Amino acid sequence: MNPIAKQLNNTIENINPHIMEMLSCMGKNLFFPKGILSQSAEAKKKAYKLNATIGIAREQGKTMRFDSVMAAINDIRAGESLTYAPSFGIPALRNIWKDSLYKKNPSLEGKDVSLPVVTCGITHAVSIVADIWIDPGDVVILPDMMWGNYNMILNVRKEAEISRYSLFSESGGFNLAAFEKKVKEEAEKHDKIIVLLNFPHNPTGYTATEEEGNSIVKILTNVAENGTNVIALLDDAYFGLFYEDGILKESLFARLCNQHPRLLAVKLDGATKENYVWGLRVGFITYGCKIKRDLDPWPLHDALEKKTAGCIRGSISNASHLGQSVVLRSMQHENYPAEKNEKFEILKNRARRVKEVLLSPKYKDAWDAYSFNSGYFMCIRLKSVDAETLRLHLLEKYGVGLISIGKKNLRIAFSCLEETDIRELFDIVLQGVKDLESAE
Ligand SMILES: Cc1ncc(COP(=O)(O)O)c(C=O)c1O
Repeated sequence: MNPIAKQLNNTIENINPHIMEMLSCMGKNLFFPKGILSQSAEAKKKAYKLNATIGIAREQGKTMRFDSVMAAINDIRAGESLTYAPSFGIPALRNIWKDSLYKKNPSLEGKDVSLPVVTCGITHAVSIVADIWIDPGDVVILPDMMWGNYNMILNVRKEAEISRYSLFSESGGFNLAAFEKKVKEEAEKHDKIIVLLNFPHNPTGYTATEEEGNSIVKILTNVAENGTNVIALLDDAYFGLFYEDGILKESLFARLCNQHPRLLAVKLDGATKENYVWGLRVGFITYGCKIKRDLDPWPLHDALEKKTAGCIRGSISNASHLGQSVVLRSMQHENYPAEKNEKFEILKNRARRVKEVLLSPKYKDAWDAYSFNSGYFMCIRLKSVDAETLRLHLLEKYGVGLISIGKKNLRIAFSCLEETDIRELFDIVLQGVKDLESAE
């Protein structure tokens, strides 16, 4: 094992040995290399005459560039866009995102969490976290309805076993009984379980209520207290888009991050969906875990950040500097809070409109809507026709594009619909159902 990895492992072991147990084989071996990066950091400070360390190109004291590229970037300097960002992400962005976590999650106050490490979007965050914390055969607990890419990342790539519970109870709320049963069952069989929670949820648009959230925290804490290591992954891709009273308005990360030394909370979030910059590919990984009161958490966080950045260094090296600079500038802009609020209101009104339209009794024989109260999506469960057949029919005959999931479910991204188009969309779906029924 590399001596730097050994050092990081010693730090982790000293501060919280359970975290050491949770790391995958790869996670244990990971470290942030000194090599080129630290030598060029040294050179940046001291090589006043000639600096020939880093693998970029310079000309007349400036970063080499094409004017055609700079014309497209407009007013972001080459040094903030064309050059490499650190594997950890640019410091100012990491800091502003961390500050924003405390603002968006007031109950984080007084709790220490790591400095977010920048990833190439949340997909990459899930993948990096899987490298660091998941070995083949480890179990990941997920609901029956979930973002399909988890399967690719966790099962196909990492060979984790995905163990599912049904998301909704009969009454349409989060199925706490099924969740608890699954978590306990898997905790009996494994020393470590990974639980992936995603609110607002893709594909249903559901966020747990406050009470459900508290129960989830209790269930996971209880399992940790009974001796199982628990890694709670919070995929907060659609964070902040909460439209109803009584539902969680904070990430469960804030409640889970100081519960128990055997419970590691990992927040996966990003500007991609929250700030509507999907293609800029800016995501974050943040860690939170309880440690002994008298110990400073910083060395543990530092070690986890270094392992995470090492993993990024060994995969994509670093996320787009341009993307990070654009997000940073936007977050520093005085209009940022107003812009964020404006878009929130637009999406919230669309969700309200969907609910209003669905009240009509004319749809009741064709489908039921799953509970939704947040995010970009909602989902309907068809009663009489096959989802994929309907999807194709709607596309071919009416030019309407939706996503079919399994035999019965259609996902509707109301985030892409103007409020004024929502009734028409559902009427077309209903007409599509009738067309298929009469053709049978
Ligand atoms: C639940 C969930 N997590 C993560 C992602 C990926 O987000 P990103 O574009 O930041 O990779 C998506 C995107 O569809 C998603 O629905």
